[in-house]
Amino acid sequence: MNVIVFASRKGGSGKSTLAAHLAAQVQKSSKKCLLIDADPQGSLTLWHKLRGTNEPALKIANRSVTEIINAARRDGVEWVFIDTPPNVSAVVDDAIKNATMVVIPARPGVFDVNAVQDTILNCRSARKPYAVVINGAPARRDEVESPIVSVAREAMAKFKAPVWSGQITNRADLLLALAEGDGAREYAAEGRAAGEIAKLWAAIERSIRAIRGTVSASGAMHKQAA
Ligand SMILES: Nc1ncnc2c1ncn2[C@@H]1O[C@H](COP(=O)(O)OP(=O)(O)OP(=O)(O)O)[C@@H](O)[C@H]1O
Ligand SMILES: [Mg+2]
Repeated sequence: MNVIVFASRKGGSGKSTLAAHLAAQVQKSSKKCLLIDADPQGSLTLWHKLRGTNEPALKIANRSVTEIINAARRDGVEWVFIDTPPNVSAVVDDAIKNATMVVIPARPGVFDVNAVQDTILNCRSARKPYAVVINGAPARRDEVESPIVSVAREAMAKFKAPVWSGQITNRADLLLALAEGDGAREYAAEGRAAGEIAKLWAAIERSIRAIRGTVSASGAMHKQAA
């Protein structure tokens, strides 16, 4: 079983958005999947209600996720996605402790890049693989990324954080999809948002295989130099 934790103490970085879109992506490939909403704000729970299908299933965690994860393992769940609150707290620590890999979304801004450092330290001290995912970025033009994104990558390179080489662009489709309880692919399969979510998912899967030792780790997103 693989546990993907979305964590960052910075509010609004995209934890819930990425958790929902990626979970919908996996659900489509009919693997057994569980969402855990460990954030009292309940964003993921709201999306799940709007979705109305109970696929994937969702559990709410208050202080600890460990019992839910142990039960999921017994039930043969393949993927667990945990959304966490924007703070440094016991439930975030507990989620990270249970993670196969931590995804740290960050918007490409100076305050955002600075704020990920706490979460990175947390992952390092728990010895958990992690990668920063640049989210809410300006669109690439002619395949060239925005200077704001390049500056963010340089800043993260200074503290040697692995950063996914792709980006999740700021796109209305990502928001519109969530409002319908959809993932990007369900909402507009051929859209650019769906393409980026699919690429991110492929990168996460590849990292998980590297963490499990079934493929080489070189180039995997949790090893990717910024
Ligand atoms: N790539 C994107 N394109 C467009 N809108 C986005 C994108 N990423 C996030 N948003 C929007 O930005 C807002 C904040 O995102 P989200 O709620 O996912 O962040 P969060 O990290 O979960 O926040 P919190 O820390 O408060 O839980 C939401 O309204 C979300 O829909
Ligand atoms: Mg959230």
